[in-house]
Amino acid sequence: MKPIRIGIVGSKFAASFHTEVWQMLPGAEVFALAARNPTQREAFQKKYGIPRGYENLSQLLSDPEVEVVDICLPNYLHAETAIQAMEAGKDVICEKPFATTIRDGEKVVEVQQKTGRRLFYAEDWIFAPALLRAEQILKEGGIGKPFYFKGKETHNGSHSPYARTIQYCGGGAMIHLGVHAVGYFYHLLGLPEKVVGLCTGGGKDNYVHTQIEGEDWAAGFLIYKDGTRALVEGNYITTGGMEDVVEVYGSDGRIRVDLTFGSPLSVFSKKGISYAVEKAEFTQGWTKPAVNEFESLGYKNELAHFLACLQGKETQARGTTAEAGFQVLRIVDAIYRSNREERTIRL
Ligand SMILES: NC(=O)c1ccc[n+]([C@@H]2O[C@H](COP(=O)([O-])OP(=O)(O)OC[C@H]3O[C@@H](n4cnc5c(N)ncnc54)[C@H](O)[C@@H]3O)[C@@H](O)[C@H]2O)c1
Repeated sequence: MKPIRIGIVGSKFAASFHTEVWQMLPGAEVFALAARNPTQREAFQKKYGIPRGYENLSQLLSDPEVEVVDICLPNYLHAETAIQAMEAGKDVICEKPFATTIRDGEKVVEVQQKTGRRLFYAEDWIFAPALLRAEQILKEGGIGKPFYFKGKETHNGSHSPYARTIQYCGGGAMIHLGVHAVGYFYHLLGLPEKVVGLCTGGGKDNYVHTQIEGEDWAAGFLIYKDGTRALVEGNYITTGGMEDVVEVYGSDGRIRVDLTFGSPLSVFSKKGISYAVEKAEFTQGWTKPAVNEFESLGYKNELAHFLACLQGKETQARGTTAEAGFQVLRIVDAIYRSNREERTIRL
């Protein structure tokens, strides 16, 4: 079977791990890269052996051999890039969040429906092996009736300059980190009926990060028709490394998944090691180094699933459709509105 040819847009953090994962998957070929900085583009192409390089999106979209555009750009460019790509006849993989505004998100859904192109919203938690196993246990009734869910992604602040302004990011820690928990719970539970949100005020009204416009702490309660509740959190006030944790409480048991500190490996090092876990400030003393984040955080299963869907071998998971990406954005937006307006938002 001919490999599916992928064009990556962007050449930094997400572009690197997407490319590395694609290159592990037989049947996928990272064929082209669009990146505006020539030095970065050439270095990236050379490092990963990518045959074609373009300085902008339009050039990449004019390449008839590129079938799928993988968007690894700052949040504010997700919608316009997805729209242009689908209108040019390409399928799309879009990193989180779906868009930075509801209006932009609506436009993406409209164009996806109009063009009939495939759009994959890349929520990796859905594919993390531990969360897949948890989902299976929930489905077999292993903890009875689940009624309270908790999920959070937290760390000490994004490396990306584009995460610092609301214009580029869409908000602060909720749209950038908490969106994973919102996306995973949308996949499991669908759309909540009501949302309550609380956030720090951004800028000088943040707990720690007074230089960023968006909030550095945010929490939301998602309340479902059947009385199920979910607490989601995103924050930049967490020292010691990134925490991705999901908990579920049920009538006959409970589940706890720790994606980032659940490593089976423990190390004590007097001088420190090269890497333990994302965003850890230092690595001296006891650490729990990640063994393989491509696997444990779900990236490999995620891109393998998208590839299998493109090859017609699998049906797209509910939490990865354009509709899902948009509904997840609506929930995040409702958390922000609830905080601003100091009231419960009905969806
Ligand atoms: N699923 C995950 O766990 C995960 C992890 C990291 C990042 N992400 C997402 O991936 C996306 C990229 O994040 P990142 O960490 O790689 O960001 P980054 O800041 O490290 O890289 C952004 C890239 O976009 C390019 N870029 C910026 N503005 C551009 C423009 N106007 N035109 C063309 N190129 C432009 C930059 O040159 C750079 O290559 C974000 O949306 C982020 O939310 C997801």
